[in-house]
Amino acid sequence: MNPASDSLVARPEIKKVLRRVLDKVVPKEEEREFIKNIAERVRKEIEDSLAEIPVPFSVEIHGSFAHDTWLSGDRDIDIFILLREYKPKSFLEDLLKIIENRLPYEFERRYAEHPYLHAYIDGLEVDIVPGYSIENKILSAVDRTPRHTRFLKQYLNEELCNEIRLLKAFLKGIDAYGAEIRTQGLSGYACELLIIHYKSFLRTITEIAQKPRIFIDFTNTWEEEEAIKTFRRRIIIIDPTDTERNVTANLSTQTFLKIKLASKLFLERPSTTYFFPEEKNLSEKILRKSIRERSIILIQLFIKEGVSPDTYWGQAKRILRKIRQFLKRMREVEVYNYEITETRGRIMLFLELNTKELSRYKKVLGPPIWASSKNILDFIIKHYDEIGPIISIGSRIFFIEKRNANERSIAEILKNFLDTIKIEPSFTSISVHDNPEEIVKIILEEDVSGKLYQFVTGKPPWLPEI
Ligand code: UTP
Ligand code: MN
Ligand code: MN
Repeated sequence: MNPASDSLVARPEIKKVLRRVLDKVVPKEEEREFIKNIAERVRKEIEDSLAEIPVPFSVEIHGSFAHDTWLSGDRDIDIFILLREYKPKSFLEDLLKIIENRLPYEFERRYAEHPYLHAYIDGLEVDIVPGYSIENKILSAVDRTPRHTRFLKQYLNEELCNEIRLLKAFLKGIDAYGAEIRTQGLSGYACELLIIHYKSFLRTITEIAQKPRIFIDFTNTWEEEEAIKTFRRRIIIIDPTDTERNVTANLSTQTFLKIKLASKLFLERPSTTYFFPEEKNLSEKILRKSIRERSIILIQLFIKEGVSPDTYWGQAKRILRKIRQFLKRMREVEVYNYEITETRGRIMLFLELNTKELSRYKKVLGPPIWASSKNILDFIIKHYDEIGPIISIGSRIFFIEKRNANERSIAEILKNFLDTIKIEPSFTSISVHDNPEEIVKIILEEDVSGKLYQFVTGKPPWLPEI
């Protein structure tokens, strides 16, 4: 029998790996106490600073700290300010101003559906998010959060919480954790619901490894077929606190397929590397050699200041998609692989192509043989000095013609193409490079060779030695 299919009776080597992971990701009492004290202190400080506002409200801790599903060492506290009466959104911003003024921390404004605050407090990441808690109304995206906590608390126990930790750590290790546009993976809440449904990490990844899609609806509101048509995702989890919503709305097919591959490989070749991939660095020599010998192009998108990551990542991904479609339409060019990565103020797109130069001669297609004699003759007269007329298998008339030198460089062609598509508002400028020495210089200056290990070797950093 295939080892993957009976993996639910966890094989000893899988058990051993999972025990080692749990040792690292389950927080010890000391760390819990440390975070609890800071969380409660900051919660109280926020509550006190808002004592005079003219609306009833509460300040509550939610997210993985409240659910006890956080990973040791991964320190993030989510504090929510919930108004019990309606006030316009601008009032939520006023609350942030009061907190910025009265609390002794350095805050950064961040933007999701509406602004919230982020601060590092005693080494912890703290998100302070305003929203509403009014009967059964959902007035902003964050209003679901307290309901999530309430739902989860009914089902979670210590064992399930640790299974959730395994799933989160696994997804984190393979860079598929988080619903933000950069990752387009699974959120913490999605992990929590998957484990409540399947009861264990192993069962969850076995399902993902084997099934083409996953549909979970605790409320039995949806027919699977209807849900697939409506939400169009490979994993669909109906939010039990809001049945019109799919918890995995941000999961891309690409990320789903990566999770599936990692799940299949893990079940065959269990290792802690999936959870804790090693930083693998490329030597300058290998980097230089690969970029010289292979057809690699670098496109840099320079990020405008003040634009939020979800916005510029969304636009960078759209630009990448347009480039790939454009190159595909050229027929001669194949994109073997690509990498998109962020570094100081810019997004770098790396493309590996079958070639950086188009062929010296090109085909110029004319009318089909079935066209009018006049059309055919006009075409032949126009191209008479070139090689042709020839009849193609598709029964069109064509000539073979020499390309101008400046028509052959794909980097040049891409530059022109990028000029014709509007520069998306997230970026101030775009540069295209195909000179290997120049590309290597930029990689070394920007210190991103660690991030290129997978692009250059093709091996994900989480893959164990096979
Ligand atoms: P966080 O992004 O902090 O995630 O969102 P988390 O569940 O606490 O997990 P980690 O351990 O920090 O990574 C806090 C809460 O906001 C809601 C959820 O209720 C979550 O518990 N949320 C956040 C969503 O519903 N969807 C999202 O995409 C993000
Ligand atoms: Mn959190
Ligand atoms: Mn958070």
